[in-house]
Amino acid sequence: MRDIDNSLLIELSNFSDGVIRLENKKDIPFEMKRIYYLYELSTGQIRGAHAHKKLQQLMIALKGSFDVILDNGEKKKVFHLDHAGYGLLIEPGIWHEMKNFSFDTVCLILASMKYNENDYIRDYREFLNM
Ligand code: TYD
Repeated sequence: MRDIDNSLLIELSNFSDGVIRLENKKDIPFEMKRIYYLYELSTGQIRGAHAHKKLQQLMIALKGSFDVILDNGEKKKVFHLDHAGYGLLIEPGIWHEMKNFSFDTVCLILASMKYNENDYIRDYREFLNM
């Protein structure tokens, strides 16, 4: 069982007013291989709802706000992201859901691996069995 407390809200290095640096293995605890972002989200939408086998991700509310529910199968933890200066580290083996998006949300995700559908666990029962 993955320790949910390994999922951290990281204060990103704000080395000048309004400038955030994201450097591999310095500001981000892994080697970034892919960046993607979510936008044009609606309040009622639920995104995520899966876990990863190996992928590490850092999630940042570049704009707007939303909730991230992390679940290790035993315990749930809710984070409210609303500041571009913080990143939520999502470790593999953690079920995550994002919801309650403000209309203007832009959610940036830095990922440690290229896209690979085989790395996803999209079935919650399968997740609990692992
Ligand atoms: P998914 O990761 O399921 O998004 P969310 O969890 O936010 O709902 O991805 C949605 C779709 O986009 C899915 O069909 C896979 C595709 N996708 C890619 O092809 N490459 C990528 O890098 C990402 C993140 C998604």
